[in-house]
Amino acid sequence: MSGTSLDGVDAVLIEFAQTATPRLIGMHYLPYAVELKAHLLGLHLPQPDELHLAHVLAQELAVLYAQTVHGLLEKTGTPHARIRAIGCHGQTIRHRPEAGYTIQLVSGARLAELTAITSIVDFRSRDIAAGGQGAPLVPAFHAAFLSAADEHRAIVNIGGIANLTNLPADGNITGFDCGPGNLLMDAWILQHLGKSVDESGVWAASGKVLPDVLNRLLTHEFFAAAPPKSAGREQFNPDWLQSHLNGSEAPEDIQATLLELTALGIVEAAQAHCRGFDALYVCGGGVHNAALMKRLAELAGKPVRSTAALGIDPDWMEAIAFAWLAKQCLERKPGNLPAVTGARGPRILGAIYPA
Ligand SMILES: Nc1ncnc2c1ncn2[C@@H]1O[C@H](COP(=O)(O)OP(=O)(O)O)[C@@H](O)[C@H]1O
Ligand SMILES: [Mg+2]
Repeated sequence: MSGTSLDGVDAVLIEFAQTATPRLIGMHYLPYAVELKAHLLGLHLPQPDELHLAHVLAQELAVLYAQTVHGLLEKTGTPHARIRAIGCHGQTIRHRPEAGYTIQLVSGARLAELTAITSIVDFRSRDIAAGGQGAPLVPAFHAAFLSAADEHRAIVNIGGIANLTNLPADGNITGFDCGPGNLLMDAWILQHLGKSVDESGVWAASGKVLPDVLNRLLTHEFFAAAPPKSAGREQFNPDWLQSHLNGSEAPEDIQATLLELTALGIVEAAQAHCRGFDALYVCGGGVHNAALMKRLAELAGKPVRSTAALGIDPDWMEAIAFAWLAKQCLERKPGNLPAVTGARGPRILGAIYPA
């Protein structure tokens, strides 16, 4: 898994039994090199020779994903022959469901070639072809493993973008992207302090929220739109942020305001679309942002916990979900939830490159 944050590659080794929750045997993370991140960011917008550049990067990414797999198998002492398949999300560079497509860069052919393991890629296109958003896909996994009859749970995955899954006890599951996660805070601290992450949200906590800026940011039509909806760097990016600033703001105040925007986007969406939830469970890198977690709890007025409390490590949730999506594909079972993505019906997701 490699998400919108463009931080790197998360790999997990998962064993599935028929009934129990997936067993996490091992994990391995490889960060993106600074140049790779820059090249990927560049391809989010039109640029000369982008077709060639995209395909070259798809090869480069396959090499990196294969390295991550090799590292994981070495670490866990697992022979390649024991692996049934790799589920690989690829790196999103464009997400345009309204135009009928989404692009997650990775050469499945090269990944299968380099690993000699069946590789499943391109999980989102089929859902879009069926009229859906192609996102978010993790709610189906949350529904399969995190639902409870005695608790109305809301699960929020705070990656670059944040997405919510509503797991009411009656089983009427919904889910949608709710707005920015970490990506604006990441971009802002990089621009001003040269750091890639606001560790624990300490810098944000040193500033004060600017209500005017916050209110202008909240006028983005995405927040008011009804689900199904999905977002990416197309909607939330540094240029969009810059267009709402006058340049006189203190950088730490903007960081505080961005943290508030993320927290409000999540809690207001949960209140509107996960009505009456008992507790909010957090996964994704945002769980390590202590200032954000504190603000979420204050705004929600309900327990806010890591998904570790439900037995799933918050750092590896999405990677585990894509292992499960790969398994669904191999078993010819659907991977999407039409109520979440807006697709016409359940679909088998993914393109298989046999070993
Ligand atoms: N210790 C931390 N403090 C604050 N933020 C963190 C920390 N660790 C990770 N993050 C945030 O989480 C992001 C990565 O989250 P991740 O779930 O991998 O997102 P994605 O799925 O979009 O790649 C980082 O870019 C960073 O913003
Ligand atoms: Mg990531």
